[in-house]
Amino acid sequence: MTLAVTGGAGFIGSNFILYMREKYPDLRIISIDCLTYASNRFVIDKLSCDANFRFSKTDICDRNEIYRLFEEEKPDILVNFAAESHVDRSIDGSEQFLRTNVLGTGVLLDACLRYGIKRFHQISTDEVYGDLPLEGDDPPFTESSPLNPGNPYSASKAAADLLVLSYSRTHGLPITVSRSVNNYGPLQHGEKFIPTVINSVLRGKNIPVYGNGKNVRGWLYVRDHCAAVDLILKNGREGEIYNVGATDYLQNIELAELICDRMRASRDLITFVSDRPGHDRRYDIDCTRLKTDTGWSPETAFSAGIEKTIEYYK
Ligand SMILES: NC(=O)c1ccc[n+]([C@@H]2O[C@H](COP(=O)([O-])OP(=O)(O)OC[C@H]3O[C@@H](n4cnc5c(N)ncnc54)[C@H](O)[C@@H]3O)[C@@H](O)[C@H]2O)c1
Repeated sequence: MTLAVTGGAGFIGSNFILYMREKYPDLRIISIDCLTYASNRFVIDKLSCDANFRFSKTDICDRNEIYRLFEEEKPDILVNFAAESHVDRSIDGSEQFLRTNVLGTGVLLDACLRYGIKRFHQISTDEVYGDLPLEGDDPPFTESSPLNPGNPYSASKAAADLLVLSYSRTHGLPITVSRSVNNYGPLQHGEKFIPTVINSVLRGKNIPVYGNGKNVRGWLYVRDHCAAVDLILKNGREGEIYNVGATDYLQNIELAELICDRMRASRDLITFVSDRPGHDRRYDIDCTRLKTDTGWSPETAFSAGIEKTIEYYK
């Protein structure tokens, strides 16, 4: 069995490869990544002597190279983590987001169609549903909630989801999609919120928090997301979308304060900065389908996960 992991040198892709290697020692794993600024070489170096691991420095938008790789490796399963993933950068310019997140996904779908695949799994985000008001009793988003992305990053992810679903309907491609809340844990790029808070504390620098800090995000330890994807590959229904839910929902300010307290740093480091344009207020998703179909439930409580994450950045 051969598993191709695109974006395998990014935060979640790296953790997913380590998870799958630990769980399935005989699985052949091909990591495909063009090594953007957001990538890291941790897994590439760690598995360099593993005969069942191959790293290919390839851009998923490069159709010829992707076809050549498929010809050589004939993957049974492809999990697509490759993406431009930082909302702030998508506000500065959307082109690279459209290129990788939409066109790149299209190239991978075409390759799967051409060479055959047992499963194409698209890694998506809860951000495709847009946000909820901060207050009120709006129900959480389910997989059939309308897509209503609030920024160019989430719009490009929503576009990719629709493309993936269309290949299922039009071509009968065996696909699944998962839409996860925010992940945290080792190997995340320093530009994201939790690494920014931890690194600021470690350096005694101000911790930037957007607006009034009341925006709410759901958090899931990255290994629990990896377990969800593994279970969807095994037990998920073809053509289906799965929300991957949080263990905790926190306001950004609560999260920054919690990390300060755990690291015994002064909360005075927290500095409010001008809000992100179009900043999503609150996310909340229902992941009953994932639990019912696959038996998934997260194992890492936020208190344990954040402790491991702080230790990692230290
Ligand atoms: N991090 C989160 O909290 C979160 C939550 C929900 C969903 N997601 C989704 O999970 C996936 C992975 O997120 P992440 O946080 O690990 O992102 P990341 O930015 O850490 O990693 C993305 C990886 O993709 C690679 N990549 C980018 N463009 C590429 C291209 N054209 N060809 C080949 N490789 C390319 C990068 O080099 C990088 O290694 C993304 O699709 C993201 O939308 C992330």
